[in-house]
Amino acid sequence: MPKIALIGAGQIGGTLALLSQTAKLGEVALIDRLDKVAQGKALDLSQAGAVTGSETQILGGANASLDNADVVIVTAGVPRKPGMSRDDLLDTNVAVMREVGAEIAAKAPNAFVICVTNPLDAMVWSLRHASGLPHHKVIGMAGVLDTARYRHFLSLELGVAMRDIHALVLGGHGDTMVALPRYTSVAGIPLTEWVKRGHLSRERLDEIVTRTQNGGAEIVALLGTGSAFYAPAAAATEMAEAYLHNSRRLLPAAAWLDGEYGEKDIYAGVPVIIGARGVERVVELDLDDNERAAFSKSVGAVRELVAECAKRMQTEN
Ligand code: 2OP
Repeated sequence: MPKIALIGAGQIGGTLALLSQTAKLGEVALIDRLDKVAQGKALDLSQAGAVTGSETQILGGANASLDNADVVIVTAGVPRKPGMSRDDLLDTNVAVMREVGAEIAAKAPNAFVICVTNPLDAMVWSLRHASGLPHHKVIGMAGVLDTARYRHFLSLELGVAMRDIHALVLGGHGDTMVALPRYTSVAGIPLTEWVKRGHLSRERLDEIVTRTQNGGAEIVALLGTGSAFYAPAAAATEMAEAYLHNSRRLLPAAAWLDGEYGEKDIYAGVPVIIGARGVERVVELDLDDNERAAFSKSVGAVRELVAECAKRMQTEN
């Protein structure tokens, strides 16, 4: 059985453990600074297995280890509070990525690593930098979550099942993310056709895109404490499954760009194929002038944050 190590046993980590157990993805190791919380959640989930019929081993806290994990999903760090942007978390979370990256390098150097901690694109850069793992084995979860939100809102608007809506977003996981209506389809029918035929107005589509961009903040404001966890966990689980099952899913994710989309040496949200080698390929799309400008702006915002992370990594070295 593959081993999935979850670093961070908060709301997303606990939900990830539950989803991994339900999907029988592999043995789970739940790891957290709060050792007892991780141990308690693992025990609770193991007992849930008696009812749900899952015998999958879930260990937590002092009983769990990162050693030789096949997949590592990192949610450690702090989430935002109402009124905060994801970028406000940088100072605290970059230090966490540094520590976690070194642990992964020492104990699970062959793992496929999925970062969920915010500000996402800068944290996946930091985690990759600190771990020294190959770029195609370290990825960030954002696009699957952002498109889930976009698909949900479109489904409500169009009265069509979410699973029939296929969508892509590009760029950083922040206010500058770029939704791509030209590359969104409803069971193969381009979204632009729905607009052309008057089933969806341009104004409503713009509102849906804006609501998607603010999708995380909307939930932070409603919860009052902490940020979204069910959809982020579902999204990261889908990515882990694509790797473990070598299913070659084409999913949007924060991936390393080495010239693709005209960008180099940076992580940003793009469509990728995930299979047994990790990121098998970055899929390039033709962008029109507006999409290209929006993507460059978004990547520019990520570069500024990454520069801050790089400074902090140097001073702490
Ligand atoms: C969100 O958008 C946690 O970044 C995550 O809700």
